[in-house]
Amino acid sequence: MKDPRIASVHPRRVWDSRGRPTVEVEVTLRSGLRGRAIAPAGVSTGSGEAIDRRDGGSRFGGHDVRGAIEAVRTEIASLLFSRDATDQEGIDRAMIACDGTPNKSRFGANAMIATSMAVLHAAAAASDLPLWRYCSGETAVQIPLPEIQIFGGGAHAGWRVDIQECMVVCLGAATFAEALDWTSEVYRAAGELMQRRGLLQGIADQGGYWPCFRSNEETLDALMEAIARAGLRPGKDIAISIDVAASAFGKSGRYTLALDGSRLDTAGMIELLTGWLDAYPICSIEDPLGEDDTEGFVDFTARNGRRCQIIGDDFLVTNAQRIRKAAADCSVNSALIKPSQAGTITEAREALDAGLVAGFGMIVSGRSGDSEDLTVAHLAVGWNAGQLKVGSFARSERMAKWNELLRIEEQLGGTARLARLPFFGEHGIRSGLRRGV
Ligand code: PGA
Ligand code: ZN
Repeated sequence: MKDPRIASVHPRRVWDSRGRPTVEVEVTLRSGLRGRAIAPAGVSTGSGEAIDRRDGGSRFGGHDVRGAIEAVRTEIASLLFSRDATDQEGIDRAMIACDGTPNKSRFGANAMIATSMAVLHAAAAASDLPLWRYCSGETAVQIPLPEIQIFGGGAHAGWRVDIQECMVVCLGAATFAEALDWTSEVYRAAGELMQRRGLLQGIADQGGYWPCFRSNEETLDALMEAIARAGLRPGKDIAISIDVAASAFGKSGRYTLALDGSRLDTAGMIELLTGWLDAYPICSIEDPLGEDDTEGFVDFTARNGRRCQIIGDDFLVTNAQRIRKAAADCSVNSALIKPSQAGTITEAREALDAGLVAGFGMIVSGRSGDSEDLTVAHLAVGWNAGQLKVGSFARSERMAKWNELLRIEEQLGGTARLARLPFFGEHGIRSGLRRGV
């Protein structure tokens, strides 16, 4: 291994996929090798996640990151100087201690995750390994099954529909490459369908079609039609995954579905969503209830947890402690892992491991504000998460990650195996689905 000690930490302000400022960090080792990473940014955030540091004021709508950049340039750089980049945990814990706040608001989660990921990249470079291989060590890995958005919604599409994301999971595909082939056909069919109906109005924040529908269910119907028009069998070749992101329209057990004109309590929401699970081949449902509605999560999981993934995103915020509690409470059976929610690689890994130990389905995820940074694609493979969610099948901040998985699948050659969903079809639900089909 080349000398892995850190010689310099250099931050720079770059721009994310929404054209907002974000933090890039470049870590240079004594050997001259480098690691570089860019912080992503969410808009549909859980109240428990680590907080980005933004400057406020009027410049760039208050989103500038000069304070976060300054924190990297001064305090973080001197903290990391001369440390061994392969000691990820030591570095992350030192940053956490020096930040000193429970939510990373002093340095900023954006400053910390960009640094933490850049250190990981530098360590992989020093070890002369691709990032996914550096992360996996000798452990055998599977290619993650992709969850790919077809329709946007919620906070990512001006609240045109309430449901934030409507996605496909190609569970019948033999390879990652085939999953992308199928998704491309569905994405195209969905676009043609929108055009024919005079509904094509552009795309949402993550590249999914802007959803000009009259009801939330029409989004699901349109996706079913697009899958069929692509010549694929809904529920057999391709299942549907939705991110309800219910915290964005529900608090204290009261949910307002503006598009449908309905106000529901927790029981009503569970009834509505369970009806969707009965009517559509939905294999995965994220944040079906608000982040403060633990009892609702428990009831929903008791009712539906054996037939589909119930994922906590805002509810669990990539936090190992919360994931352990959720496992004990049986409030979900799956968890999203967004490294930027945790603020460091070490904590994100801890959360992932907590989920794996609990037998959860695990999905590594990007953010709605993303960039050309490929770290999450490598983590999904190297940490053997089983699933990856990075938005739609358009816009290069999304495609760059899908394309990287094609390269990794090729590198793995004959040993590449596409992971399977843990909680779908085991009990023979509609369409004769079976585990591992
Ligand atoms: P984000 O949300 O806008 O916070 O990235 C994406 C999601 O809810 O999965
Ligand atoms: Zn979500």
